[in-house]
Amino acid sequence: MMETKNGRLFFDGCDVTELAKKYGTPLYVYSQTAIERRFDELRRDFLDRWPGSRVAYAAKAFCTTGMCRLVERAGMCVDVVSGGELYTALAAGFPPERIEFNGNNKLPGELELAVDRGVGRIIVDGAHELEAIEALCAARGKRMKVLYRVTPGVKADSHDYIVTGKKDSKFGFPLDEDVIYPAVERAVAAPHVDFLGFHFHIGSQLFDASPYLQAVEAVLELVRQVRDRFGVRVSELNLGGGFGITYTTEERRPYRYYLDPMLERIAACFDALELPRPAVVIEPGRSIVGDAALSLYTVGAIKEIAGVRKYVAVDGGMTDNIRPALYQAVYRGILANKADAAPAETVTVCGKCCESGDILLRDAALPAAESGDILAVLSTGAYGYSMASNYNSNPIPAVVLVKDGRDELMVRRQSYEDLIRNQIIPASLNS
Ligand code: LLP
Repeated sequence: MMETKNGRLFFDGCDVTELAKKYGTPLYVYSQTAIERRFDELRRDFLDRWPGSRVAYAAKAFCTTGMCRLVERAGMCVDVVSGGELYTALAAGFPPERIEFNGNNKLPGELELAVDRGVGRIIVDGAHELEAIEALCAARGKRMKVLYRVTPGVKADSHDYIVTGKKDSKFGFPLDEDVIYPAVERAVAAPHVDFLGFHFHIGSQLFDASPYLQAVEAVLELVRQVRDRFGVRVSELNLGGGFGITYTTEERRPYRYYLDPMLERIAACFDALELPRPAVVIEPGRSIVGDAALSLYTVGAIKEIAGVRKYVAVDGGMTDNIRPALYQAVYRGILANKADAAPAETVTVCGKCCESGDILLRDAALPAAESGDILAVLSTGAYGYSMASNYNSNPIPAVVLVKDGRDELMVRRQSYEDLIRNQIIPASLNS
């Protein structure tokens, strides 16, 4: 997707230095070709090989109407975790039945929207939520398909903030007998709810198949237990997301690396139990969009602290990419207008926020940077725009979609007017 021509960095056929000129910086640039290739891989390696399987793109990684439309056109489902994401998917024309709703504390208004619009699934996170859904559906004469999210008690190897499958977790039902079995019984008995099965998500940016397999084993034990205890036939399993991508040197694994061992176990277990094989769903976010985008910045102030370090400041930072500050995430940077030049110095690329922790790249080897250069930071497609903030009243950058040399705006840059649009000077301060 990325190439160098005449010393310039190109992305999906577009000269990104030109994009920086045309749209300004900071700028997020998404490659449609890269995203569509991931969908092709998912079709080939998963959907075509397991009847009834679905991919629900985890919108939290990058949620805009344009992205939802791409997902919809690819025939995929979408996983949303808030009323706002649900609204965005619906606004993009997503068929409600292909929307799946996750989240540990869905608000009454969010559940109401989901029930009223008829989303395909609600992934129930706790006992109270089942009651809320049952009540909403009963009042409207509707039915809702639900899965239970469980925390299988495995510890995946990733940053502490993004592992979610261990027992001490705010997500899902713990697998304690006195919690999960009565909860399943209640779901099965609830007249307006169709209980389909179980969901887990153990963490994000994972490269190892073994925690997935451990989680599947735990869930298959549940499948067996609920069949034996209550005669419940589980018809759907959702394995979550979390598949790792390359930021710098990590080696990305094909989807099959994670999925094949799990699918094999699921098949063997259901066959042995003489249950029809279930629908299997996954919820990848990062692995679809993460390396399908880069961020562009313009180099501004350059400051050398003698004998210590050289700071190269850019016009964005933690407001458009919080991940280095929040998770010590490491990225790769390229000077897009000097893409052929060899690295000449090791610098620290910092942002423009009033925080010392506002660092984008620590010890980056770059060609000699000058004010006005365009810096491309790679693999910023997941949890960059979606975690952007207005800290220091910096406007959120624009998003551009590129494909084969064509560029189109997907999100307009915020203006200063946008920043104060919802602000009111209380009348009492006017006198
Ligand atoms: N499904 C559920 C229920 C999730 O909680 C998540 C991510 C996903 C799917 C998608 O996971 P993915 O395939 O993108 O790894 N802000 C953090 C990541 C938090 C992920 C939270 N849940 C980051 O920037 O690394």
